[in-house]
Amino acid sequence: MIKPIVAGNWKMNKTPSEGNKFSLSLIENLDSISDTDVIICPPFTGLNSVVPSDCYDLGAQNCYFENSGAFTGEVSVDMLIDCKVKYVILGHSERRTIFGEDDKVIGDKVSSVINANMIPVLCIGETIEELNKGLAKETVYKQLKKGLSKVGSLKDIVIAYEPVWAIGTGLTASSEKISEIHSYIRGVLTEFYNETESSLIPILYGGSVNSNNAEELINVDSVNGFLIGGASLDVEKFVDIIKIVDKK
Ligand code: PGA
Repeated sequence: MIKPIVAGNWKMNKTPSEGNKFSLSLIENLDSISDTDVIICPPFTGLNSVVPSDCYDLGAQNCYFENSGAFTGEVSVDMLIDCKVKYVILGHSERRTIFGEDDKVIGDKVSSVINANMIPVLCIGETIEELNKGLAKETVYKQLKKGLSKVGSLKDIVIAYEPVWAIGTGLTASSEKISEIHSYIRGVLTEFYNETESSLIPILYGGSVNSNNAEELINVDSVNGFLIGGASLDVEKFVDIIKIVDKK
């Protein structure tokens, strides 16, 4: 049995003081949640402003794979550990498309996060062009192969399937499509590792998840939770989704 995860990716939103307020009201609202792991991922500047709590874990939205040195603008795994970060989102489509990260860099980051005893949330997913050409499976296969090239075991890793065309657009993949791709991902992981490990890895869905579609999506076979952008910025909407997942 995989414990469901609901992760909020704030992207470049919320100042440290706004994040602090959000975390206080999140704590007030998560009393009844017992069967779901909640993660919030503020920007780097907000990591230390979120109030520490047993109700959720802290995630970062990125990191660099070198430990220290002349890498202007980057943040290392040790810096994140010092901020009590447990999860690191890697390979998000906005990192891939806007900031030009390729699968090789993402693979190096995944490996450095695992070596630092944090948990990477490796994001994969096809663009609309790839979808229209029937290349969704080829795309996620390639992203998994390269993103996991230095990973010996799936024990401490989370996968997030996020079709790029569904992110921030209000469009979601159909339940059938999500089920097909999630099962495909699990099959690929069985091929790369083994059935025991692939059956235990959480595979999240991301892309315009909200409180109206969460119920249907969490009941899709092989969906173990969500990575949420827009709807994670509002405490009420975020908590609604967490409650839906928790009562599943
Ligand atoms: P969205 O973003 O929920 O706003 O579509 C998801 C994501 O980018 O992780």
